[in-house]
Amino acid sequence: MDSTPTPQSPPPAKRPRVAIVFGGRSQEHAISCATAASVLRAIDRESYDVIPVGITRDGYWVQAADDPAALEISGDRLPEVADTGTQVVLPLGVHDRTLTVARPGEVPATLGEVDVVFPLLHGPFGEDGTLQGLLELADIRYVGCGVLASAAMMDKAMMKTVFTSAGLPVGPYVVITDARWRTDRDGVLAEAGALDFPVFVKPARAGSSVGISKVTGPEGLAEAIESAREHDPKVLVEAGIDGRELEVGVLQGRDHAPPRVSEVGEIAVTGGHDFYDFGAKYLDEGNVELSCPAQVPDEVREEIRRIAAVAFEAAGCEGLSRVDCFYADDGRVLINEINTLPGFTPYSMYPQVWAASGIAYPDLIDELLQLALNRPLGLR
Ligand SMILES: Nc1ncnc2c1ncn2[C@@H]1O[C@H](COP(=O)(O)OP(=O)(O)O)[C@@H](O)[C@H]1O
Ligand SMILES: [Mg+2]
Repeated sequence: MDSTPTPQSPPPAKRPRVAIVFGGRSQEHAISCATAASVLRAIDRESYDVIPVGITRDGYWVQAADDPAALEISGDRLPEVADTGTQVVLPLGVHDRTLTVARPGEVPATLGEVDVVFPLLHGPFGEDGTLQGLLELADIRYVGCGVLASAAMMDKAMMKTVFTSAGLPVGPYVVITDARWRTDRDGVLAEAGALDFPVFVKPARAGSSVGISKVTGPEGLAEAIESAREHDPKVLVEAGIDGRELEVGVLQGRDHAPPRVSEVGEIAVTGGHDFYDFGAKYLDEGNVELSCPAQVPDEVREEIRRIAAVAFEAAGCEGLSRVDCFYADDGRVLINEINTLPGFTPYSMYPQVWAASGIAYPDLIDELLQLALNRPLGLR
């Protein structure tokens, strides 16, 4: 037999395997499914091997079909992760990143070794550091912010503490812990009642405007606080800011470079929505206008971009975040919040502001995955 090796093309470089995790236990389950549909469609299949992993509303991890159409919002149908009876298992602490899938009565099958997880989850149990902690324990890289930044930026009270200590401008607010509400209701109502009305009453750890109400006078405070408390025992009352809502995208720099900040986008809500509430966000999108770049004076644009970069670093964010500001009618720029896993369909603000800044949606997905693949495991 001829032992001369025949010339062969080199084996194809292994494509990184990406687990796209979506669905989840929060109120934003359906939105997360729709985002997954967009990412499944746009991700470059020649560069990445994709494993879709769904989390049911009850919190079960299941193997999901790689079927964007089934995950889209179509008409009135809100998509949902179906319990397929499978169970996806993540190995913890065994230096092995192989996902397995178990089916009742069958030997568990491997889904292969995962190089990176792309969490497409919003709200508690996804955006709040819990999933990030699980992935840290499993030594698996993932897109986006780590445990601390995710958890701290999920809590609007903690978020304001971080912003204030970084010298960023925030509006007046009062925090109402469960203990204070139970023991000093009159004191709390007096303190919150001293803010300029209207005020916004919010659960500290929610999203998508869930549980938020705009209150025009002190007599409406107690009811609004109770309704925010249905979502979170910790509540914030904030003085309402009259002005425009401007948002920017932040993308971590490569190789220790400073964060990159996008063009500034604007959200304008019309059609009977008093503010950017849940209905305006998801049900009545015809009455919301996203525009980018926003028509604002240059110094306002630069101030918002400065605030965004400072906030990203002060909070210890990684990967991506969207920073939301108010441009008040009196000319002040204030920071409202950071979202560590911002809406991520191609029509959402974060991809839109990057598209307007020269990074198209598929390239944004690629960049986020590369940032995640290139970051060290463990303490960073
Ligand atoms: N202090 C405020 N002044 C004016 N509008 C506010 C204020 N706080 C919230 N809003 C309105 O409520 C919306 C949702 O509030 P936000 O704090 O961004 O919560 P979420 O995390 O749910 O997005 C904002 O986009 C804005 O329209
Ligand atoms: Mg918001």
